[in-house]
Amino acid sequence: MRSHFLKFSIFALQAPLIHAQDQSGFISLDCGLPDNTTYTESTTGIDYISDAAYIQTGIGKSILPEFQRGLQRQTWHLRSFPEGDRNCYNLSLRKGDEYLIRATFVYGNYDEMNELPKFDLHLGPNLWTSVTIQKASVGISTEIIHVIQSNHLFVCLVNTGNGIPFISALELRLLNNATYRTQIGSLELFARFDVCSTTGATFRFKEDIYDRLWWPYNRNDWTLVTTSYTVIAGSNLYQPPSLAMRTACTPVNSSQSLVFSIDPSSVPNAEFYLYMHFAEVQHLQANESRKFNIFYNGQFWFGPIIPSYLASTTFSTRSALTGGNYQFSIYRTADSTLPPILNAIEIYTVKLFLQYETFEKEIDAISNVKTIYGLKRNWQGDPCVPQAYAWDGLNCSYSGYNPPRIISLNLSSSGLNGEIPPYITSLTQLQYLDLSNNSLTGPVPEFLSQLQSLTVLNLDGNMLNGTVPSALIERSKNGLQLSIEGNPNLCVSLPCKKNKKKNVVVPIAASVASFSVLIIVLATVWRLLKRRQPPLDGNTDDESNTLFQLLELKNRRFKFSEVQTMTNDFERLLGTGGFGSVFYGHIDDTEVAVKMLSLSSSQGYKQFEAEVKTLFRVHHANLTSLIGYCNEGANLGLIYEYMAKGNLAEFLSDKSTRILKWEERLRIALEAAQGLEYLHEGCRPPIIHRDVKSTNILLNEDFQAKLADFGFSKTFPIEGGSHLSASIVGTTGYLDPEYRTSIILTKKGDVYSFGVVLLEIITGKPAVINAQTNNVRTHISQWVSSILSRGDIKSIVDPRLEGDFDVNSAWKAVEVAVLCVSHNSTRRPTMNEVVLELSQCLSAERARITGEHGNKSKNPADMMTMSFSTEIGPVHEIGPVPR
Ligand SMILES: *[C@@H]1O[C@H](CO)[C@@H](O)[C@H](O)[C@H]1NC(C)=O
Ligand SMILES: *[C@@H]1O[C@H](CO)[C@@H](O)[C@H](O)[C@H]1NC(C)=O
Ligand SMILES: *[C@@H]1O[C@H](CO)[C@@H](O)[C@H](O)[C@H]1NC(C)=O
Ligand SMILES: *[C@@H]1O[C@H](CO)[C@@H](O)[C@H](O)[C@H]1NC(C)=O
Ligand SMILES: *[C@@H]1O[C@H](CO)[C@@H](O)[C@H](O)[C@H]1NC(C)=O
Ligand SMILES: *[C@@H]1O[C@H](CO)[C@@H](O)[C@H](O)[C@H]1NC(C)=O
Ligand SMILES: *[C@@H]1O[C@H](CO)[C@@H](O)[C@H](O)[C@H]1NC(C)=O
Ligand SMILES: *[C@@H]1O[C@H](CO)[C@@H](O)[C@H](O)[C@H]1NC(C)=O
Ligand SMILES: *[C@@H]1O[C@H](CO)[C@@H](O)[C@H](O)[C@H]1NC(C)=O
Repeated sequence: MRSHFLKFSIFALQAPLIHAQDQSGFISLDCGLPDNTTYTESTTGIDYISDAAYIQTGIGKSILPEFQRGLQRQTWHLRSFPEGDRNCYNLSLRKGDEYLIRATFVYGNYDEMNELPKFDLHLGPNLWTSVTIQKASVGISTEIIHVIQSNHLFVCLVNTGNGIPFISALELRLLNNATYRTQIGSLELFARFDVCSTTGATFRFKEDIYDRLWWPYNRNDWTLVTTSYTVIAGSNLYQPPSLAMRTACTPVNSSQSLVFSIDPSSVPNAEFYLYMHFAEVQHLQANESRKFNIFYNGQFWFGPIIPSYLASTTFSTRSALTGGNYQFSIYRTADSTLPPILNAIEIYTVKLFLQYETFEKEIDAISNVKTIYGLKRNWQGDPCVPQAYAWDGLNCSYSGYNPPRIISLNLSSSGLNGEIPPYITSLTQLQYLDLSNNSLTGPVPEFLSQLQSLTVLNLDGNMLNGTVPSALIERSKNGLQLSIEGNPNLCVSLPCKKNKKKNVVVPIAASVASFSVLIIVLATVWRLLKRRQPPLDGNTDDESNTLFQLLELKNRRFKFSEVQTMTNDFERLLGTGGFGSVFYGHIDDTEVAVKMLSLSSSQGYKQFEAEVKTLFRVHHANLTSLIGYCNEGANLGLIYEYMAKGNLAEFLSDKSTRILKWEERLRIALEAAQGLEYLHEGCRPPIIHRDVKSTNILLNEDFQAKLADFGFSKTFPIEGGSHLSASIVGTTGYLDPEYRTSIILTKKGDVYSFGVVLLEIITGKPAVINAQTNNVRTHISQWVSSILSRGDIKSIVDPRLEGDFDVNSAWKAVEVAVLCVSHNSTRRPTMNEVVLELSQCLSAERARITGEHGNKSKNPADMMTMSFSTEIGPVHEIGPVPR
């Protein structure tokens, strides 16, 4: 059975056979149909409406008349998207509901250009499928069964530069959410067959109450058995249509079995779910019986099955089928007098949608802002993801598998009227808000002062009135850069003091023009600190005072005596390095690690400075965070969150008694990769860590991994720079061999080091392996490639795992690691790519684990019975099926 993209030239030829059905739970959009138009399609009886209420962009077109013949009416119109990279439908749905979603495309030379376009279809922030139109006359449709993740669904058409995207119809059918369950992911239709069809035609609603499309499937070695009665679905939640169930196939030679297989070549690496529908269609005599077993790749899988007379039963796979070989045989049992039958079958592939949507409250908030101000721009679909299509004027933070958050919003010069809307308060992570040069009226709302992360608030050039809330003024003294110039009716304080002069409220704003300026100045401060005792209560030098206030903004400054107290006079040493020593301590109930700079090394001071600069810029769940600092005379110290479980190397070493499971290893690798990805791709300008190694990956109480030690890190001096030269630093075994000779520093040096760490995680061996016998030292990458050349994955993976891992994910992880340690840096992947690959490994392993847990039954078969219907209800006789 081979099918992927489902082609049709004609939908249904048949007249409806059953009475009109309820269309509740249907959303049937005829795309491009003029606004407010509706009609009932004559062959199916489906009521279509215009799509105009669900999308703001695109233009309505029609296919040429010669292509319309034989096609259902909803394909006659289409919506085409000559403008914009991404255009999205916005459907308000209920979270947790399960829908069959079908998109249909008939080109029909609508633009009279005869150029067949290719474009992408996205479901929310994820790629659903790539659409390739192969013939003007041939329509294609793609179907997915998907559980709605929030209160809306975005279906987007994305221009990939290969022609103008369009869509003919978008149909959603609410399903019973107990059906078509997967362990992970959605289900993309691969094939849905009416096995041994008598009509040879495709059909859908009204024969199928869920409007699934069924294709005929006939074979020479299979023959038809049929009934003229209705096959009822009863309590079978799948509700397979009688039209498909009334006909079944049985082998021509009744002593043989029904054998079929899935050809996965069109969907390499896919995982399959299978749904087989059975019903007895012959009235059996007392001395007759039909009983059969199902075998999968030669192994007994499920049985015995005795189909019920005129009532459907559905059997489905409980977990995804993988492995590349999918042969199914249905054998009659020894005591069965009749050969096996198969009435209908559905095959789906698993579609993983890994990218999370933006934090739901923020989508709602920003959508409301869009509506209130009537903003057009490219504000469609998810605001933050995919990153390439993020909305203009806002930036987001992306941290691995957490929903993205909106961190800056620039609506400057956007012609905004009215008051500042309260929805802004839902954007709780907002750091930057620019509403300048608009016509905003009313007061400066108090709620703005509740945005804890806000560092820049620009309200210049509006018509705001009233008094600036005192809480905001307070904030502005503590680092918020507040600008309210050019609002003639706005008072700074009571009695009204108008802000005629520049920046009245903002004493320190001028020095905080941007983060990058801040970092440069910060370096100066450290130099200042070296020379003299810094002010403790902030009444001396203005410049440094301001900067301390800024530091205080996020990180707290501690006196040396406080550091002595928190470490109980440096009682417990956690480790030492070239820079100095790290001590255990606590501030109230919070455990901390205190790194004290050893002043004996000038390298140490530089590293210390580098670390402060870097840590001040970066904030990510997978990077250790700075809690405070101390700078009293010669005593320079940094206070970090305490990582209770120490470093990764300890857990990988032979001496460790706690063996990390494969799932934990993949997760730690992914988290460390995300930290590094953030430094490379999330920071502007990017940061190169330069000392990625397993001892610099720290684990907290919950074994969450964080990258630490930024003492060697380098920032690209200019944005867009791709490399810089610097003296060689790093650790033997992790150092990029190319960099060692070229002395040109790129992100790829970190990728190499990360690859070495990944190999350590997979193998449990150190970066440099000392042979016990002959004292020969081998680099881990050489060791791995020597084993790989034998194709022996099992002996690469840490033997302490005892084979308890998903082999495919292990292969993939090894492959990624080996690419990372390529000698030629151009062959190495980016950290983005590494993160993507590792997250796929992790999902595969997690699916394996949940598969094991969810499938505790001793039944060797991997199938379950969905629902039996034993009672036979009233049967309706219906006329002969037209041929
Ligand atoms: C469609 O109907 C709505 C509500 O009845 C109306 O506001 C809108 O103007 C109509 N659109 C067109 C194009 O007729
Ligand atoms: C199925 O849908 C119902 C509401 O129709 C909801 O209460 C339930 O949680 C859903 N079940 C699952 C597994 O999503
Ligand atoms: C039917 O199949 C059986 C077993 O494979 C075989 O022995 C027999 O010859 C076949 N009969 C015909 C008519 O092909
Ligand atoms: C079942 O019984 C009928 C007569 O009632 C007979 O004709 C037929 O051959 C029998 N079939 C089998 C498989 O024994
Ligand atoms: C999507 O539609 C809903 C309901 O019509 C609306 O509230 C929301 O603002 C829309 N979202 C976007 C991004 O346009
Ligand atoms: C978003 O980030 C880009 C690139 O870093 C920057 O050019 C732009 O100004 C930012 N926009 C806002 C609204 O902060
Ligand atoms: C904000 O938008 C305005 C107008 O579009 C632009 O001039 C300004 O550079 C933007 N600011 C940032 C930080 O991107
Ligand atoms: C202010 O916005 C208007 C359009 O609303 C624009 O023409 C003008 O250039 C903007 N002024 C500044 C200083 O950005
Ligand atoms: C601010 O302006 C609005 C009209 O835009 C007016 O209704 C309101 O009374 C004014 N508030 C103050 C305090 O002047």
